[in-house]
Amino acid sequence: MYPEVVPVVRCPNCTAHPLTLLGPLYEDGEIVVGALRCEFCAVQTPIREGIWDALNDRLLPLTPAQITNYLPPAARLYEPLWRWNALTLMSGRRFPLREELTLLRGLIQPRPDRFYLDVACSAGLYARTLAAPGAIVAAVDHSWAMLREARRQARERGLRISYMRASAQALPVVNGAAAGVVMGGSLNEIGDQHAALCEIRRVLEPDGQFFCMNLVKATSGWGRVLQSGLSTGGVDFPKLATLNQWFDRAGLRREAQWRWRVVAITLLQLANLK
Ligand SMILES: C[S@@+](CC[C@H](N)C(=O)[O-])C[C@H]1O[C@@H](n2cnc3c(N)ncnc32)[C@H](O)[C@@H]1O
Repeated sequence: MYPEVVPVVRCPNCTAHPLTLLGPLYEDGEIVVGALRCEFCAVQTPIREGIWDALNDRLLPLTPAQITNYLPPAARLYEPLWRWNALTLMSGRRFPLREELTLLRGLIQPRPDRFYLDVACSAGLYARTLAAPGAIVAAVDHSWAMLREARRQARERGLRISYMRASAQALPVVNGAAAGVVMGGSLNEIGDQHAALCEIRRVLEPDGQFFCMNLVKATSGWGRVLQSGLSTGGVDFPKLATLNQWFDRAGLRREAQWRWRVVAITLLQLANLK
């Protein structure tokens, strides 16, 4: 975790802020060991191995799909074995990772001194894509294995990204802090989607943007069979219309949307709630 992110985080217990940084040990500017203390409720949460554990060692109830993300080999192999070709395999066209990341960067346009958040980041692909010079980038996941791998990859490339262990349904970030929030493929397995989308809405700046890539219900017979098998492990594949209702209900307005077979990419902003 890097010091510039401390002002935008809030207490995971009582939501107060700012938090006080205790006993930091720095390595190349990163806080590798320390704690964040809430002066209001006195709860202290540790920073270990450079990662802020806002869940304070707490284990969450997990679906089988989520459990696989806790395994270190899954974290290590996730990007090279699956992610690099995932959209080509699922979109029915050649869809290189470069194209997805160019779209992400072009739509979010990370700017210096603005804060960006990757929610349910896995090995941190989107966070790395946003790490433009001067942009303040943080990424959240609830899996230690994924966060360690994400941090390893960022450090290998000299990127300044803050990693936080937290639930997508309780982001430890202050209201209206993020110029951009991104989520790649996670809405399908995140659990309570409404709570997660409401949290994303809460942390966005009034003119902030949310880039969401996720999977929708297949229309082909084989696709449906495969998806119904995966659904038993806790992965949800909504129809596009249902997905759009989820966004509406959370107060997120669609600015643009693309669909290629089961792959959907949506750019959203805050809806004006009456
Ligand atoms: C499909 S992967 C994310 C892929 C990544 N965003 C990318 O573009 O390569 C899903 C990730 O969501 C995380 N996850 C699932 N449910 C979560 C939750 N409720 N809170 C935080 N992280 C969650 C898992 O640990 C896993 O790393």
